[in-house]
Amino acid sequence: MPDVLVTGADLLGAGRADLLLRDGRFADPATAGPDAERVDADGLVALPGLVDLHTHLREPGREDAETVATGTDAAARGGFTAVLAMANTNPVTDTAEAAEHVAALGRREGHAQVVPVGAISKGLAGAELAELGLMARSAAGVRVFSDDGHCVTDARLMRRALEYVRAFDGVIAQHAQDPRLAGPDACCHEGELSGRLGLPGWPAVAESTVVARDVQLAQLTRSRLHVCHVSTAETVDVLRWAKARGVDVTAEVAPHHLLLTTDELAGYDPTYKVNPPLRPDEHVVALRDALADGTVDVVATDHAPHARHDKEHAFADAAPGMLGLETALAVVLETMVLPGRLGWAEVAARMSTVPARIARLSGQGRPLALGEPANLTLVDPAARAVVDGAASASLSRNNPWHGRDLPDPVVATFWAGRATYRRT
Ligand code: DOR
Ligand code: ZN
Repeated sequence: MPDVLVTGADLLGAGRADLLLRDGRFADPATAGPDAERVDADGLVALPGLVDLHTHLREPGREDAETVATGTDAAARGGFTAVLAMANTNPVTDTAEAAEHVAALGRREGHAQVVPVGAISKGLAGAELAELGLMARSAAGVRVFSDDGHCVTDARLMRRALEYVRAFDGVIAQHAQDPRLAGPDACCHEGELSGRLGLPGWPAVAESTVVARDVQLAQLTRSRLHVCHVSTAETVDVLRWAKARGVDVTAEVAPHHLLLTTDELAGYDPTYKVNPPLRPDEHVVALRDALADGTVDVVATDHAPHARHDKEHAFADAAPGMLGLETALAVVLETMVLPGRLGWAEVAARMSTVPARIARLSGQGRPLALGEPANLTLVDPAARAVVDGAASASLSRNNPWHGRDLPDPVVATFWAGRATYRRT
């Protein structure tokens, strides 16, 4: 692998500097040889490679919607050098063998590090604990466990899971959305608009009541809880309450919940169907505030590709989920950086350092310093473009950002010293 010399990048507070990528790590730029490939980073910001705590890769089982190869290609284009691959594949990642299979696929096909998430319950059925210990002690070294796509509604199972993962420093990532508070056909936020559109809704409290229970279970068990895709102001209140009491809880927000609202639903376009659902403006405001003040710790994409034949249905019948890897940083720039709510160092924390720490990834989210793994994302803070969904690396086209004018920040991504994406 040739050396790469990146010149003149803005190193977040440390001023402009050069970076030398050699044999997968950062080396002293003064030792760059004449053969080193040069990358002019004048005017670009250097971020540690981004880490996504919440990606659906669909392999094994739904390779028509996404594969490890295509999903991690999308990740690389979005500036990510690692993704946590959610367990709701077919078969479900609920055994050591299944976790090792996903990790092996990642090593063979990945354009980013692929870290399997293990299921909390067997088959995501919410009844019996999966093989948490075996997954943790397997070669895949699973640390994050989630039934994502399904809420763990059984309080006793949740308590058991939290107790169990303490032994190996694991974390339970909850998809907080209590189905018992909604009808079987709920497909959007319950409120004035759902009434007008005639669509059955999810009340905001279907999320916050689960989080209120879970933070208390985390306190009781002295274990680690992570709350997936926080979407309501009420959940933010609960998180503030729990953090003030020292509960070991972290939380993520998805880019779509930072910018899109129930307004998108007026045309019944199933692209905007997602779980948890898009919410009215006041929730979006609360989520931005929470991400700015750290109540919400990280941004995670919930990249959820779906094949056309699953998505192109009447709104109530369409599969929930939307693409997110390629546009996540753009949306954070638009909603948080350009309005002055977050600086670049805080973006690095919320999209790289802290997610890596939550997942206990030792080689990701590290400083851009000598000897560290050369995971690097170069960002142009000024570029903008109209998103072209057809140009996506994803196999799916359920892209809520298609046709929208957004920042276009990612110029290059290097994973372990190798370019996984270069803007042409
Ligand atoms: O909208 C969603 N889609 N939410 C989830 O939690 C799961 C995801 C999926 O797997 O499609
Ligand atoms: Zn989820």
